[in-house]
Amino acid sequence: MPKHLAIIMDGNGRWAKNHLQMRTFGHKAGAKKIQEITEFCTKYGIAFLSLYAFSTENWKRPKTEVDFLMRLLEEYLDSKFSTYLNNNIIFKAIGDLSIFSTQLQEKIHSLELVTKEQCNGLTQILALNYGSQDELRRAFLKLVLKQERNFSFDSIENALDTTGIPPVDMLVRTGGEMRLSNFLLWQSAYAELFFTKTLWPSFTSKELEAMLLEFKTRHRRFGGL
Ligand code: FPP
Repeated sequence: MPKHLAIIMDGNGRWAKNHLQMRTFGHKAGAKKIQEITEFCTKYGIAFLSLYAFSTENWKRPKTEVDFLMRLLEEYLDSKFSTYLNNNIIFKAIGDLSIFSTQLQEKIHSLELVTKEQCNGLTQILALNYGSQDELRRAFLKLVLKQERNFSFDSIENALDTTGIPPVDMLVRTGGEMRLSNFLLWQSAYAELFFTKTLWPSFTSKELEAMLLEFKTRHRRFGGL
């Protein structure tokens, strides 16, 4: 059983196109899917679930799509408060949040604070304006500012956004591409990788369950024999 599962939720745009709809329709369906998969992971006993919602590179998309994603995120945070509490889910955001509006940052922080106080189940980690290379750059900057001279693995891990969170055991990417796209590179050093052609809005708990069964059969050696 993986303790930490990470998912690259890819394929919203293509899913929408297949349904003869705008890309935004796909993102809406993708946001809905987050709840189904998170609840399944809770029941399955996974402790940490990381989801790639918006990357440092996603700003390159047309402004209308970026604006839509920001609004969707804000709506999502507004509407999901009780869902997190009812399902005992702790919410955590990773990434450079300073780029977001003060209002959005406040919404993110209040969901983090309230769920941290009231919940003790699965921790859902939402990556927002996140890129691994940027996370490492920010971590090194923190260490330099603290005037640390001998970078140990522990000091680097403590400076990452994911400090206190165990490494990724299993990484799933939907949507058919076979790459990591700058997601949790340090944390996924020994992750088992799973790729599926299924587009994120069509991904199901059933497919994830089949992957989890395969995960159990993989022999993890962590560089040993
Ligand atoms: C990739 O689809 C998806 C993203 C840009 C990130 C995931 C976003 C969501 C699941 C919805 C928003 C989430 C929240 C929390 C409100 P794509 O657009 O790259 O699809 P394509 O590869 O088919 O074009």
